[in-house]
Amino acid sequence: MNTNPVHFTLNGKPVKISIEPWTTLLDYLRYHKKLVGTKKGCDHGQCGACTVLVDGNSVNSCLCLLVSLDGKDITTIEGIGTADNLSVEQQIFIEEDAYQCGFCTPGQICSTIAMRNRGEINSEEELKDWMSGNLCRCAAYKNLTKAARRIYKES
Ligand code: FES
Ligand code: FES
Repeated sequence: MNTNPVHFTLNGKPVKISIEPWTTLLDYLRYHKKLVGTKKGCDHGQCGACTVLVDGNSVNSCLCLLVSLDGKDITTIEGIGTADNLSVEQQIFIEEDAYQCGFCTPGQICSTIAMRNRGEINSEEELKDWMSGNLCRCAAYKNLTKAARRIYKES
């Protein structure tokens, strides 16, 4: 089978593998690494459920081929915090009751962290615009926006 070498950092640990060039980052995370916190919603770049951080930027992992990430730093929700050791961002999501079923939550948290990393939000409209790539089928947008605002301002 045709494979290509690629190396990267995943949740702080170096990885060096050879993999089929058509493998997406999302499928690698879920099916090879069992990091199922990253969700597969549409698998077509429409819902944001698969959002992870690559070099601190938000990326739809369903649209990203793993072999294109040579030398990159990849962080999933499992690398942000755990049930026993929640990150500040996860704690804020709980405090603001910013989820219902939780399916979209890992992607929402990754997007808010990327938004804070970018640091160019100057209005409520810009904040909502940034978060518009992450759909919530439970329509928890009111509290999601509150949590995103707090993460941007406080953490
Ligand atoms: S699963 Fe990637 S955007 Fe929907
Ligand atoms: S909390 Fe259910 S999809 Fe967002």
